[in-house]
Amino acid sequence: MVRVLQNKTILLGVTGSIAAYKAAGLASQLTQAGAAVDVVMTRAATQFIGPLTFEALTRRHVVTDVMALLPDSQIWHVAMAKRADIFVIAPATAHTIAKLAHGLADDAVSATALDASRRAPLVIAPAMETGMWEHAATQENIAKLVARGAVIVPPGEGHLASGASGTGRLANADDLIDTIRAVLGRGGDLARRVIVVTAGGTQEPIDPVRVLANHSSGKMGWALAQAARDRGARVILIAGTTSLRVPRGVELMAASSAREMREAVLRAIVDADALVMAAAVADFRPAQTAEQKIKKGNTETLTLELVKNPDILADVARHSSRPAVVIGFAAETQELLVNARAKLESKNLDLIVANPVPSAFGSDIDRATLIERGGAATELPPLTKEDLSEKILDFIAARLKT
Ligand SMILES: Cc1cc2nc3c(=O)[nH]c(=O)nc-3n(C[C@H](O)[C@H](O)[C@H](O)COP(=O)(O)O)c2cc1C
Repeated sequence: MVRVLQNKTILLGVTGSIAAYKAAGLASQLTQAGAAVDVVMTRAATQFIGPLTFEALTRRHVVTDVMALLPDSQIWHVAMAKRADIFVIAPATAHTIAKLAHGLADDAVSATALDASRRAPLVIAPAMETGMWEHAATQENIAKLVARGAVIVPPGEGHLASGASGTGRLANADDLIDTIRAVLGRGGDLARRVIVVTAGGTQEPIDPVRVLANHSSGKMGWALAQAARDRGARVILIAGTTSLRVPRGVELMAASSAREMREAVLRAIVDADALVMAAAVADFRPAQTAEQKIKKGNTETLTLELVKNPDILADVARHSSRPAVVIGFAAETQELLVNARAKLESKNLDLIVANPVPSAFGSDIDRATLIERGGAATELPPLTKEDLSEKILDFIAARLKT
């Protein structure tokens, strides 16, 4: 579960764009993630997708008429504006953006936006033809809204309704949800903190086409980075190999080999409050990287000589910029707790997350034990990587408070 979305009321404005159907997927994902989603639609939007779809997906009333009243004669859109934690307009047409910029309020979306703006941050995801998007009028309207504090999720490039290709496609749902999470998380318990997270596996080149690698998926570090962002932190994500999408609202540093990761970590920790090393870093690398692809030839065996890689956590422990909280992971196939405790001590960590290898790599559920310096060990029930991330961040937040 994504903690920052729990018990939040997200007001979703849908306007008359060909991308309106995508708002149904967004409403569904947010609802499943634990948020209450109130939908308001313009009249044009209802020509693209019916309110019934949103009503069924969110199990909540949908407002399409600015004049609509509740049975007790309260005004519907005012009631929705009052209870919203955030107002997201996705997709936002050029027309609605213009209305918002000028403070017009003659439909359910624009009227609600004016009313909600006092307490709920406004997120706008434009979708339109390239010409409309690039038009000076639209750009000036967007600049006005940004100056007033609106967050814009810029449109992407690709196929447009007209059949043309260009900038104007509604941002994808993952980017929208990332933005919503980040905006809701502003002012969280890690606000103004800098947290460095390493994630994924490293690759050590053998020749121009082959590498020594490991099974790390990057999911744990990704979940940590997103959860830290959701609690208001500035997050630097140092990513080894992974196929995962870069989360919005975190700063990415790519590091393919252990040596590159060491350089990136030592640079990133300078202003950091906490470092969480979730990456699976190779202990060894080939002594030499062949300049040309190694050919099979007639030999039956090939021996690779390996040399030790730098020990990043040991270097961090000695560094003058060691962050106040340093957390490591131990993924072991045997003697999990003994090996984890030894690593905790030798690397001078504040906390180690011990997890057995089958659950540590690739899986969405982790069976972890948290061991603090000084001895206290907490065996956690099986948790999603999102929930485990929150536990680790609870530790960081508590430590930084003291
Ligand atoms: C098939 C079709 C697709 C449209 N797609 C968009 C769009 O993606 N973005 C946009 O700004 N306008 C689009 N329009 C034009 C808007 O629907 C029109 O400007 C409308 O007045 C917007 O009203 P609203 O902002 O109140 O929803 C489209 C129109 C049609 C007929």
